[in-house]
Amino acid sequence: MNNKRHYTLNDDNSSSSYSLPLLSGSLGPDVVDMRSLYRESGLFAFDPGFTSTASCASKITYIDGEAGILLYRGYPIEQLAESCSFLEVCYLLLYGDLPNEDELDGFVHRVTYHTLLHDQLNYFLKGFRRDAHPMAIMVGVVGALSAFYHDALDINSQEDRDLSAIRIIAKIPTIIAMTYKYSIGLPFLFPRNDLGYVENFMRMMFGNPCEEYRQNPVLVRALDRILVLHADHEQNASTSTVRLAGSSGANPYACLTSGIACLWGPAHGGANEAVLNMLQEIGDSSNIGQYIEKAKDKNDPFRLMGFGHRVYKNYDPRAKLIRQTCHEVLDELGLKDDPLFKLAMELERIALEDDYFIDKKLYPNVDFYSGIVLKALGVPSNMFTAMFAMGRSVGWIAHWDEMIADPEQKIGRPRQLYTGEPRRNVEPIAVRKHH
Ligand code: SDX
Repeated sequence: MNNKRHYTLNDDNSSSSYSLPLLSGSLGPDVVDMRSLYRESGLFAFDPGFTSTASCASKITYIDGEAGILLYRGYPIEQLAESCSFLEVCYLLLYGDLPNEDELDGFVHRVTYHTLLHDQLNYFLKGFRRDAHPMAIMVGVVGALSAFYHDALDINSQEDRDLSAIRIIAKIPTIIAMTYKYSIGLPFLFPRNDLGYVENFMRMMFGNPCEEYRQNPVLVRALDRILVLHADHEQNASTSTVRLAGSSGANPYACLTSGIACLWGPAHGGANEAVLNMLQEIGDSSNIGQYIEKAKDKNDPFRLMGFGHRVYKNYDPRAKLIRQTCHEVLDELGLKDDPLFKLAMELERIALEDDYFIDKKLYPNVDFYSGIVLKALGVPSNMFTAMFAMGRSVGWIAHWDEMIADPEQKIGRPRQLYTGEPRRNVEPIAVRKHH
């Protein structure tokens, strides 16, 4: 990561200039090492929203936004989505290489035998209103996991960090399925150790205790692929939130809870639910034009949900893969004339021909099609973001682990550009002016 080149900053109000080292990674843009800037110049770098800031060095995921490239530990997302299972990708993201058969078998066994929740959590979950938003329940229940798993919370122990990672990957699907069952007044189903990761989830979510649940292998493979596509995405808002929370030494469950809370926002992981709501509001392709105009109107807060991305200025490679999965699932379910899917494809076609979207390089992102396929799978729209969290949990915990293991990591503590009142004195209340 070292480099002999430097970047010089000149202050045109004085003769001062500051020379900052340039660092190169293995792929992507070089970075200006700003760590000495304040000490040498008394200046802060200003970058709200971090549009030009590399917050850390990482080996996990690489994105080339201009080219629409996404690599997990160097492997293209297209190949992983085609050839690997979600648990294989979990192993890759956590440990850096794809597993061989024995390694995968051992990993799958470890995850399988951690899918059950502490029984006390059933009572905890039942304390929520049945109509609580599933993401509110997830924030509560995942946050509460640290109250149940005191035995492995030493963040300086690689073994404890690894056990926490396994527990999180294993238990999130159980929590999501319980949240759904609770919302519709049906009993919880326990996970089964003779089922695969996605089969277990599908049965807990859609099965019932009165009959055997019949798996549909096409749907199982589709959901497994959707989880692969959501597994990680570099320093996105929720992953950066997990890293910042983790930098204080907080336990992994508390850090993941902060990531779940951040993912919930409609500008981030909440977009898949917002896309479906938007498509239902548009209703018919004859209304598309007026919504495209609303999206372009600076005075209208409406944005075309599922479009645009901070990094991708090309088609999100995940959106292409999810659209293909959409076709497969809708065909399998005899829904290929699904009006929402046809409306989505028409909206995509019109938007991609519109100069506003072309000029601003706004393409469909991962959330544009995911809601349609999740709805076809039977997932209610208010649980789409929970499904995103099921995939992303491994990315969050992989980044958390990488940060904790980094000998150079320190608590994240940004500064600011202060634009408030200069120093002033408190006046007695009797003489204070009315504002
Ligand atoms: C995810 O970071 C990640 O990697 C996230 C994610 C992951 O895997 O973790 O990929 C998952 O969150 C995908 C994004 C899902 N969100 C949405 O689909 C919501 C709709 N999209 C927008 O809110 C927006 O595009 C963002 C939030 C995704 C990106 O916002 P940026 O990078 O801050 O871009 P911007 O707001 O500065 O927009 C640039 C311009 C603006 O116009 P100008 O001010 O330059 O005139 O494009 C416009 C925006 O108004 N614009 C849109 C738009 N998105 C951006 N106009 C209409 N509709 C949109 N969707």
